[in-house]
Amino acid sequence: MSTPVPSLELNDGHRIPAVGLGTAGMRRDAGVQAIVSALRGGYRLLDTALRYRNEREVGEALAASVVPRDEVVVTTKLRGRHHGADAARRGLELSLANLGLDRIDLYLIHWPLPRIDRYVETWRSMIAMRDEGLIRSIGVSNFTPTHLDRLERETGVVPAVNQVELHPHLPQRGQREYHAAHGIVTESWSPLGRGRVLRDHPVITDIAARHGVTPTQTVLRWHHELGSVVIPKSRNPQRQRENLDLFAFSLDDDEVAAISALETGRRLWWSNPDRHHEF
Ligand SMILES: NC(=O)c1ccc[n+]([C@@H]2O[C@H](COP(=O)([O-])OP(=O)(O)OC[C@H]3O[C@@H](n4cnc5c(N)ncnc54)[C@H](OP(=O)(O)O)[C@@H]3O)[C@@H](O)[C@H]2O)c1
Repeated sequence: MSTPVPSLELNDGHRIPAVGLGTAGMRRDAGVQAIVSALRGGYRLLDTALRYRNEREVGEALAASVVPRDEVVVTTKLRGRHHGADAARRGLELSLANLGLDRIDLYLIHWPLPRIDRYVETWRSMIAMRDEGLIRSIGVSNFTPTHLDRLERETGVVPAVNQVELHPHLPQRGQREYHAAHGIVTESWSPLGRGRVLRDHPVITDIAARHGVTPTQTVLRWHHELGSVVIPKSRNPQRQRENLDLFAFSLDDDEVAAISALETGRRLWWSNPDRHHEF
């Protein structure tokens, strides 16, 4: 039995678990089974997006699981084609129908898309839908401090969460400092950097050996020490449990600094928020 997963308080008073399951690519029956297995193993935060085309699978897994609906924080995201006041409402309705739910617990604008410049009106629509009870907490993803400043200046409402690319190669120091100063919880996407490079790095394997944990647990615990929520993806029940079991050890300041020093500044793909476009 692993140590319980702590939760973090959001600026709207709600809480989210420090570890969730990334579900991108989990589709069809195998996808449902992977999500059911995560819920059985103790996950209480699920991360999907309309764009992943697996909201139905997430809904099916929730319905099939014995875990009470209210214990799970379901996150989904508004895609590019739903930027704009009316379109945002259509996007939410589509996600609710796909998931088979009457409320989204955490709804994020997936990308800011500054070229089409509709994220402020989209945000106003999200605020209204939250006030109607269709969404519990509202947040964003891939927003830089410039985009976040504008939301606050023009609407007075600060996102509860900003989900950004964050891993030891991209520790996002400035972005995290901005979040801390404005009461925004940071959520790390691709927290493992998606591959073997980090798992095999001697800085990480040495720290892992010192604590008797795996390299993956070391990287995930580093995120926790930085104050960030993690959503690692694994389809494998054993690795899912491993990724949740982060709370019986901790890293000291020197270990955190050594991992942060692996920064290369390189993003995993063409994911610069000022330029990335998605529909
Ligand atoms: N907001 C955004 O724009 C955005 C963008 C990208 C991703 N995301 C979210 O972030 C989530 C996670 O990101 P990601 O899927 O890109 O990458 P990731 O979580 O960094 O890495 C996933 C990879 O690591 C492997 N893995 C997981 N746990 C492991 C362990 N304990 N030991 C060894 N290997 C392990 C998985 O393989 P196995 O399945 O074989 O275990 C998978 O290949 C996504 O699912 C999605 O929900 C959001």
